[in-house]
Amino acid sequence: MNVPMRNRNQFLRLSALVIAVPAMLYTLPSTAAPEKARSGKVVVETVCVGCHETGKDGAPRIGDQAEWSKRASVGLGVITRNAITGVRKMPAHGGNAALSDLEVSRAVAYMVSGGKAVDPDKPYSSPSQIAGGNLVKARCSECHTTGKDGAPRIGHMEDWSPRLKNGVDGLVSSAISGHNAMPARAGMANLSDADLRAAVIFMAVQSKPLGK
Ligand code: HEC
Ligand code: HEC
Repeated sequence: MNVPMRNRNQFLRLSALVIAVPAMLYTLPSTAAPEKARSGKVVVETVCVGCHETGKDGAPRIGDQAEWSKRASVGLGVITRNAITGVRKMPAHGGNAALSDLEVSRAVAYMVSGGKAVDPDKPYSSPSQIAGGNLVKARCSECHTTGKDGAPRIGHMEDWSPRLKNGVDGLVSSAISGHNAMPARAGMANLSDADLRAAVIFMAVQSKPLGK
């Protein structure tokens, strides 16, 4: 093959690309992987500071170790549960439904310890407050019965199968943080991760029409 000099250089550059692109794709992180949990520090500094810095409405102040120790004396599980479901003027999930129960637990550990605790890798609490089927009837069915805005339909396994490719955990993460027209925690910030998991299993794994 008699390739003129200029074309040959182009050819060499092209071959380099053909080799480099698949290698790049291979090392790119998969977008399907569940989002990495934020650290306690990040959650406190972006969400909880809103009230806990100044002590708004009687919120225990960041840095007031005496007040935090008093609160934590009932157990980290108890005060974390309150932070997840909401208590008096403390809004559920700090008012940010897209935070996971693990992220709330990390933020509690951070404030209670004055920034000294290592981030826990499991939530201190994730209360199951309502059975999966009941939650689906009370809330999820509103969109998931008819398939409003493209919601996968209850009782239609063909809607769920392609979404189940990344497992139930991926679907639970989407239900927590929201997914296109699907609002975070279905718009109910007081639902725990455990509640959402039970509802997702009811819809996506059992997937029977309601009432059967
Ligand atoms: C809109 C204001 C507001 C935001 C934002 C907020 N809190 Fe609170 N928080 C409060 C108030 C007010 C209280 C005191 C409630 C009471 O005991 O009456 C409180 C209390 C708490 C308690 C103690 C609960 C108990 O049982 O004693 C924890 C734990 C807590 N918040 C965690 C958090 C975390 C974690 C975040 C961030 C993810 C956060 N809060 C964001 C207002 C807020
Ligand atoms: C306001 C309407 C609405 C409500 C209420 C609602 N969903 Fe959805 N949901 C949607 C829509 C729309 C989609 C499709 C989003 C997309 O993939 O584009 C969806 C998708 C999903 C998915 C698939 C996400 C994925 O990664 O493919 C899950 C899981 C889910 N919803 C769980 C729930 C649960 C659990 C409830 C009740 C606690 C609920 N939804 C309530 C509208 C809703």
